[in-house]
Amino acid sequence: DGDVYKYYADGEWKKSTSGKSVSIINPTTRKPQYKVQACSQEEVNKVMDSAKSAQKSWAKTPLWKRAELLHKAAAILKEHKAAIAECLVKEIAKPAKDAVTEVVRSGDLVSYCAEEGVRILGEGKFLVSDSFPGNERTKYCLTSKIPLGVILAIPPFNYPVNLAVSKIAPALIAGNSIVLKPPTQGAVAALHMVHCFHLAGFPKGLISCVTGKGSEIGDFLTMHPGVNCISFTGGDTGIAISKKAGMIPLQMELGGKDACIVLEDADLDLVAANIIKGGFSYSGQRCTAVKVVLVIESVADALVEKVNAKVAKLSVGAPEDDSDITPVVSESSANFIEGLVNDAKQKGATFCQEYKREGNLIWPLLLDNVRPDMRIAWEEPFGPVLPVIRINSVEEGIHHCNASNFGLQGCVFTKDINKAMLISDAMESGTIQINSAPARGPDHFPFQGIKDSGIGSQGITNSINMMTKIKTTVINLP
Ligand code: G3H
Repeated sequence: DGDVYKYYADGEWKKSTSGKSVSIINPTTRKPQYKVQACSQEEVNKVMDSAKSAQKSWAKTPLWKRAELLHKAAAILKEHKAAIAECLVKEIAKPAKDAVTEVVRSGDLVSYCAEEGVRILGEGKFLVSDSFPGNERTKYCLTSKIPLGVILAIPPFNYPVNLAVSKIAPALIAGNSIVLKPPTQGAVAALHMVHCFHLAGFPKGLISCVTGKGSEIGDFLTMHPGVNCISFTGGDTGIAISKKAGMIPLQMELGGKDACIVLEDADLDLVAANIIKGGFSYSGQRCTAVKVVLVIESVADALVEKVNAKVAKLSVGAPEDDSDITPVVSESSANFIEGLVNDAKQKGATFCQEYKREGNLIWPLLLDNVRPDMRIAWEEPFGPVLPVIRINSVEEGIHHCNASNFGLQGCVFTKDINKAMLISDAMESGTIQINSAPARGPDHFPFQGIKDSGIGSQGITNSINMMTKIKTTVINLP
């Protein structure tokens, strides 16, 4: 069946023997756009075997050669940006310009990773024994970083390319092999990205990409004994994975309810611009999106007015037209968002705009006077709907932020750097941005969530380190 995109294993594009496929629904047209193979468990087993044997020789490949191949893949990825971006537009309704940006950013990430890898993996430590009580200087300890083995990478729909390479490149530079399970929405963009790595000439079996139904191969992959590390980005599934996975390192980036605390002295124009960018870019479908605004009552009216003026200017429509607000990824996602909106309506939130939805397209909506009894005060819509909670003190804002199950990022707006630092320290989140909206990038910055927002830290350097293990050799002198 020529219409079904093949999966990638052993350096080849293959049809699944299951004879089954999975349809990818275009969020804009709500019609099937592409089909991918529904791989079987048997195929996963084969991929794991090849990944294991390819990794053994890859680990012995000189570091500079691994880096060279990654640089090559990065360049090819950038050359193919238009074709990959087109898939992102059709599969996940990412606005056209943002789709291109995602691919370029991914190429840069791969190159940076190659450079960082040769530096940090190119050095180890030397320790002597006589610093510890009771020891003579008779033991010399040498440390180096060795790969973990087979890394299972599971990126989410919102960055199927970027959040795939942010796992693939650190894994490869560190001498690991990769089994990629792309999200269904975004699978074809991911397959195109894998093709760029194929063209770069990585050894057979080192990189595999299996597509299919989570119900068939999801648990099978995450619980597979051949997997030595899981790097996952997504939602609640990550919590389930962490409970089922074996004794292996996990890197998890899950949801967020990033709070934006606004003080009386804040530059309200700057805040409004960041609320728009932070809350509404890619229609709010980012784990780092601003998901609740906590504003001091005395400046709330002025801020809401400024944000509303900017919301009115957002274009709403198709991703092909590069609209600011595009259809959310699926009908079930749109229904979920609508549920949160209805709940807020029933409980008396102020609607700054009329709620409007056509298919999966939801118009941007600011909800003012949201109270803690409303679901939207705590749950992440992953859509263009943003709650505003008016607070009477900074403490109230910090309390709301810390009462959340999530703790990914947060931000605080004030001209007083001393206050900002104290608030940053008090907010229980992985990163606090002072005077800017939350964001993961630049991609070499550490990126981590606490509580239900994740396990471990990402960012290029941390990911490389996380995908290695320390090995020591001790020379014992007579
Ligand atoms: O959706 C989760 C991403 O890690 C957020 O990345 O801040 O670059 O949009 P971003």
